[in-house]
Amino acid sequence: MADLGAAPVPADDPLAGRRVLVGVTGGIAAYKAAILVRLLQHAGAQADVILTRGGARFVGAATFEGLTGRAVRQEVWEDIAGESHVALGRRADTVVVYPATAHTLAKLAGGLADDLLSTTLLAATCPLVLAPAMHTEMWEHPATQHNVALLRERGASIVGPDDGPLMAGDAGPGRLVEPEVALDAVRAALVSGSPRLPDDVPAPVGAGPARRRDLLGTRVLITAGGTREPIDPVRYLGNRSSGRMGFALAAAARDRGAEVTLIAGPSELTTPDGVLRYDVTTALEMHTAVLEHLAAADVVIKAAAVADFRPVAPASSKLKKDQGVPTIELTPNPDILAELGAARSGSDPLLVGFAAETDEVEAGGRAKLQRKGADLLVVNDVSGDDAGFEVDTNRVVILDRAGGRVEVPLADKRTVAERVLDRVVAWRAAGPTGPVADAAGTLTEPR
Ligand code: C5P
Repeated sequence: MADLGAAPVPADDPLAGRRVLVGVTGGIAAYKAAILVRLLQHAGAQADVILTRGGARFVGAATFEGLTGRAVRQEVWEDIAGESHVALGRRADTVVVYPATAHTLAKLAGGLADDLLSTTLLAATCPLVLAPAMHTEMWEHPATQHNVALLRERGASIVGPDDGPLMAGDAGPGRLVEPEVALDAVRAALVSGSPRLPDDVPAPVGAGPARRRDLLGTRVLITAGGTREPIDPVRYLGNRSSGRMGFALAAAARDRGAEVTLIAGPSELTTPDGVLRYDVTTALEMHTAVLEHLAAADVVIKAAAVADFRPVAPASSKLKKDQGVPTIELTPNPDILAELGAARSGSDPLLVGFAAETDEVEAGGRAKLQRKGADLLVVNDVSGDDAGFEVDTNRVVILDRAGGRVEVPLADKRTVAERVLDRVVAWRAAGPTGPVADAAGTLTEPR
C-alpha cells in the first residue's frame, strides 16, 4: 500500500499542475478511488471527481469532497446555471474512470450519454484511461471484449484488469488494478497523449511545458532488481535490491518518449504501462537477455544489482542440516557492464552503470567507471537507511567519463531517474566526448 502521508511533489512529475478528472462507477473496488485521488494529489495534480449513482452506493461523495476540498458532481441536473455538464471534461488534462464497470464501458463504446459521467466522457477530448473491474464472466463476455477493443482502437488506454480475488469469494481476471498502477497509466496517457498511439502523434493540445519528449524514438534497455544464484532448489544467494530504481527509470524514460525494454530480476513491482519486460532470475540469464536485446538499444542503463558470484554446482536436491555445514564453492559471474564496455566500438550504445558503495563512495565510483568502460556511473552510498536498497528515495552522484560530476540530493527515485536521464540526454547531444560538468554539477559546452 502506498504511503499516503505528506509527500514532497516531485518537480518533474508530468502530473504536477495538471487537472485529472476521476470518474468513479459502481463496483466494490470504488473505495480504492479515494487512494488514487490522494496519489494524484501527491504527484501535484488537481483531482476532481464525478461519482455515478452506482459509485455513490459504494463510497460517499463526502469522502471525495473531504479529499479534494471541492464539490463532487453526481447529476447532470445539478448547478445548471453554474457549470455545464461538459465543463469538467473540457477542463481536464486527462480523465480516468476507476473503476470502470462493464455498463460504463458499454455506454462509452455506444456513445450513450444518460448521466453526468457519460456526457462528460463524450465531451472530453483529452486522453482517457479506463480501469475495468467486474466479475470474470462479465469481463470475458464477447460484448465487453468488443467494447474494450473498440475503445482501445479509439485511443483509450485500458489498464488492467488484474487476475485475483473478486467479490463474493470469486477469483479470476476482473480485479481492479491497484491505485499506483492506475496513477502510472494516467501519467503515461498525459505525457504521450495516449500510450497506444504511435510516437509521431502530435502533443495533445494543452500538454504544457511539463511534457518533455527528449528521448523520443530512443531505444533504452534497462536492467533492474537483484539476481538470485541457486544453492539448491530452495536456497539462493541474493541481495537487497528491490528493482525500484530501475522501474522508476523505465517509467521516466517511457514518459520522455523512449521505447523501453526492461530486464528485471525477481520483483514484485508492476511493469510500467507500455514497457516491454523480460523476467530473469540469475546473472547468467540476465547476461543472455541483455546480449539478446543489445543490438536494438541506443542506451543501456544497468541499474540491476547483479550477483558477482554464483555457486559452481547448485545441489539438485535440498541440502540437509544433518549432512553438516556445506562448503559452497563460488565462481565469478560475467560482469555484463564491463563486457559491454569492452566490446562496443566507439560510443554506441551509451552505457550507464550503477554502483552501490559503502566506503570511499566517489573514489570507488570513479575507478569503477574507468574499469567498466561506461559513459556514466550513478554512485550511491548505501550505508544510510534513506537511500539505496528497499526504500523509495535515493541520493546519488552521477559521474561521467569526461570527469564531470552531478550531485543529486535525497529525492524520490522518480526524480533521481529524471536527473539520470537528463545526463543521458546531455551526453547523447554532445557526442562521443560528452558534455562536461563542473564540480557543482553545472553543465558546460562539450569539448
Ligand atoms: O562491480 P559492481 O557490482 O559494483 O558494479 C555495478 C554495475 O555493474 C551495475 O551497473 C551493475 O548492473 C553492473 N554489473 C554487471 N554485471 C555484474 C556485476 C555488476 O553488469 N556481474
